[in-house]
Amino acid sequence: MQAGRATPDVIIVGGGAAGLMAALTAGRRGLDVLVLEHGPEVGRKILISGGGRCNFTNTDMRAECFYSANRHFVKSALSRYRPEHFIQMMARHQIPWHEKKLGQLFCDHSARDIVHMLLAECRAAGVRIMTDVRVGAVTRSDVFNVQTSAGVFVARALVLATGGLSIPKLGASGFSYDVARQFGLPVITPEPALVPLVFGQADEAWVKTLAGLSVPARVSCGKVAFEESVLFTHRGLSGPALLQISSSWRAGLAVMLDLLPGQDLAEHLGRLKKSGSKARGAGALARWLPQRLAQSLAELYAPQRVLAEWADRDIRAMAAQVHHMALHPTGTEGFAKAEVTRGGVDTRALSSRTMEARDVPGLYVVGEAADVTGWLGGYNFHWAWASGFAAGESI
Ligand code: FDA
Repeated sequence: MQAGRATPDVIIVGGGAAGLMAALTAGRRGLDVLVLEHGPEVGRKILISGGGRCNFTNTDMRAECFYSANRHFVKSALSRYRPEHFIQMMARHQIPWHEKKLGQLFCDHSARDIVHMLLAECRAAGVRIMTDVRVGAVTRSDVFNVQTSAGVFVARALVLATGGLSIPKLGASGFSYDVARQFGLPVITPEPALVPLVFGQADEAWVKTLAGLSVPARVSCGKVAFEESVLFTHRGLSGPALLQISSSWRAGLAVMLDLLPGQDLAEHLGRLKKSGSKARGAGALARWLPQRLAQSLAELYAPQRVLAEWADRDIRAMAAQVHHMALHPTGTEGFAKAEVTRGGVDTRALSSRTMEARDVPGLYVVGEAADVTGWLGGYNFHWAWASGFAAGESI
């Protein structure tokens, strides 16, 4: 494996979800596989994911749930590695799981079960894993030469599986991007995604007054919309719907909130007015909205009269605020808080069947290092499994 010794078939840089899946898949096929991980242990993002229970896949697995410059890229790998394949592997290891909501599957006990399973599968397949290894320069003759703190390793195939830039304190690095660029593969600028958004003074002042409140909402940006809860924080907005929309948000775009999705506030208020209601703004709104939100909206937008005396245009104006509130993010909370990275090695330079670089035989890119970003809800791990499997099957 080291220079001068038997050459492994494949070196995988990065012992995360995608790297381990590629390793065990190639190992099962009888290939000699070496995983190089610079952290003290493998699978650290798996361990912290899903609140420690790892949302490992989603039963509603569709290409539409992923972003990539090549929209069709994920189809081939997803069609060959389905959620049931991962579930079957978990069943073999007797790992119990449950569905939480929206098809999201979590471990019953601990995300560590998944890491143990992947490690057991790697062991059974004869995969060698080295941790605490610093990986340096990569060169290519008819094989790949990889310089590391543990010596030079040589292999006929190299898999880039170092993930994205999210959570630097867990060892995220741009290694895969650098090596991809070195071999002429384009890299789409990596940006934080599934990340809380922050706002300028005007919006922030209002958002802050509601810190801690979580409400069901429909959040949209351009043509993309998600309906789930939104969490107001001291810094801005978070919660599932907001994290989802952050993957589509670009600087300069507004984020629209419908704080009463699926209902018609103008109709509700109109009926209340007709009944001669003596309620004032907050009292009226609190019939449909949480008290704190009702209070805050009333202070900003309600006339100082009982509802029976509101003009129709007052009702329309309040309904417009509730259903079409425009907020203007100034940025995100960055890679330190982002669950994933959007952008990465351009999928148009990769084979969608094998994850191999079209113009660099033997070089593969899997998982989050590639420009594939899934929705919140188990999609990003599933991409790691499916792309790792695709590469492992074809090396
Ligand atoms: P991943 O980041 O898992 O692995 C990369 C590996 O490469 C790491 O072990 C890293 O140390 C190593 N590495 C990096 N640079 C290196 C270098 N230069 N040399 C050697 N090794 C190097 N997704 C989901 O579907 N369900 C969920 O519940 C969650 N939850 C979640 C919570 C939090 C807090 C975060 C940050 C992320 C999630 N995710 C998630 C996203 C998910 O964790 C992510 O998409 C996958 O881990 C990506 O798998 P990869 O193997 O591509 O990268």
